Amino acid sequence: MNRRTAQQRDRIGAQVLVCTTDRDSEYACCADAGADAVVAAVESWLRDRNAFWSPIAVTETACLGLCSADGTAIAIQPRDEWYSDVTVADVPDLLEREFGPDAASIDRRAADA
Ligand code: FES
Repeated sequence: MNRRTAQQRDRIGAQVLVCTTDRDSEYACCADAGADAVVAAVESWLRDRNAFWSPIAVTETACLGLCSADGTAIAIQPRDEWYSDVTVADVPDLLEREFGPDAASIDRRAADA
């Protein structure tokens, strides 16, 4: 086992967790609500600002407990920010709100608007 905390703290300022859970169930899941397209939109927005993976990591994750048929769930850590019902169209506004238009605001919390 290797403890890599210092390395990751140096590299990653924030982590965008996007639920991509797919399940065969009567209950809604993010995969059915466009999660793959939301992940692609998040990555594209960050790549365009040279912020993808470092300093802003993107991780596909299991259920965040915000399941909806209307969009995908996203959490941003370590900010403790949570979103549900995120669509591709929402991604630019969400990320700009969190990180600023140039993805340069890594160390602040999103404005409470
Ligand atoms: S399936 Fe995505 S939050 Fe539950």
